Amino acid sequence: MPATVVIGAQWGDEGKGRVVDFFARNCTVIARYSAGSNAGHTIVNERGRFALHLVPAGIFYGNKSCIIGNGVAILPTTLIGEITMLEERGVDTSQLMISDRAHVVMPWHVAIDKLDEAARGANAIGTTGTGTGPAFIDKTARLGVRTGDLLAADEFDEKVRFILEYKNRVITKMYDGDPLRFEDIRDEYREYGERLRHYITDTATVVQDAHARGEQILLEGAQGSLLDLDHGTYPYVTSSVPSSVAAGACVGVGLGPTAIRRVVGVYKAYQTRVGNGPMPTELFDADGSALRDHGIAQGTGEYGTTTGRPRRCGWFDGVLARQTARLNGLTSVALTRLDVLAQFDRVKICVAYELDGERIHALPPSLAASARVQPVYEELPGWKTEITDVRKLGDLPTEARQYVRRIEEILGVPVDMISVGPERDQAIVTRDIFGSALL
Ligand code: GDP
Ligand code: IMO
Ligand code: MG
Repeated sequence: MPATVVIGAQWGDEGKGRVVDFFARNCTVIARYSAGSNAGHTIVNERGRFALHLVPAGIFYGNKSCIIGNGVAILPTTLIGEITMLEERGVDTSQLMISDRAHVVMPWHVAIDKLDEAARGANAIGTTGTGTGPAFIDKTARLGVRTGDLLAADEFDEKVRFILEYKNRVITKMYDGDPLRFEDIRDEYREYGERLRHYITDTATVVQDAHARGEQILLEGAQGSLLDLDHGTYPYVTSSVPSSVAAGACVGVGLGPTAIRRVVGVYKAYQTRVGNGPMPTELFDADGSALRDHGIAQGTGEYGTTTGRPRRCGWFDGVLARQTARLNGLTSVALTRLDVLAQFDRVKICVAYELDGERIHALPPSLAASARVQPVYEELPGWKTEITDVRKLGDLPTEARQYVRRIEEILGVPVDMISVGPERDQAIVTRDIFGSALL
């Protein structure tokens, strides 16, 4: 059976966790393939409200294999905290598996993440401070520690001694910081290894076997395509290797590209970004605050799941959205948080930019030029009606349907699911992608 990839098609926080939780019912394997605890995926279902950073959103079904693939960087404290929290809340984690090739976030990564950001000053990236970026940098520098290393004490000690000497030179000589102690790290990470030992395995084989048996596999993306190292708003991007775009999914779990037939792009009905970098449709007025604070009392305002930072908010950027639809080869779109737009008399979609008097249809690679870009908006009528209880497309107000249709036109991809609230059943399915004939 072809695998299905769910990716974020904006700057992250599009509602991937919510969409994966919804689609997971159709699949037997749900695997995260990139990023680390910089991700924060919120799931609201009959068991309550959960914020997951590393565990795949399929965990709530109990009978699905949930895999943290080789492409993920794991901060052990976050993962252990998450497993403990799930167990305490009665969620069975016995189906969780962790790749023995996934990289481990080490104390120097967290330290260097903060020191690097401080050194950048006004040009700081606005990272999540979780050490994830530096862990991926070390992965490509061939200075990484992998989960499999946690299980082999002698090899771990030898590796860490070598890397730590290097990193302590960076911390003390370059940043004037305090060195880290080998013994502390060894003891701490030995405990993590013991706690995680029975989850760590060769997950690529598990995924490949499931694929060979014809099972449905769901590959859960993290972050968003506009944060991609190659195609995002560099350098205001994340450092995940493999990338969070759909093409990274194969590498991140160990499947070949021919296994992937469906790619679902998750878009918010408007735009958000957390951290620094260009955002042409950002709003600094009352509309921006209205987008951010809608649902704040219910805990669904636009504040970071991982850091609690307020998210920058703006109108839907159709220029970037079309670019990410093509970049990911989307076959399907899940449009989330459409309910949030119910408060506006009129809604806007950015359909082009103006740069120095010229109309353009892509964000320029230069940061200085990106900062001068002015969005060209198309205005559509709002619907001013709550839609959180709507479950059929035909029951949506005409104006809301018109808005969805316009987004479909811009993307050139069908919107197959519309989310009208954070809870599992608050969805309008316009085409059952698992039930319909394969593309
Ligand atoms: P992710 O990182 O892509 O999984 O997204 P986050 O969980 O970081 O942010 C999405 C937020 O929107 C979470 O608070 C979700 O509970 C919430 N959410 C998801 N879909 C909807 C929706 O259709 N309507 C509303 N109001 N909230 C939603
Ligand atoms: P989910 O999976 C939103 C952003 C950070 C920062 C930049 C680099 O929840 O959508 P990093 O810590 O990765 O080095 O920070 O990337 N970022 C995210 N923003 N959602 C995410 O994940 C993100 N993961 C990273 O805010 O701007
Ligand atoms: Mg998030």
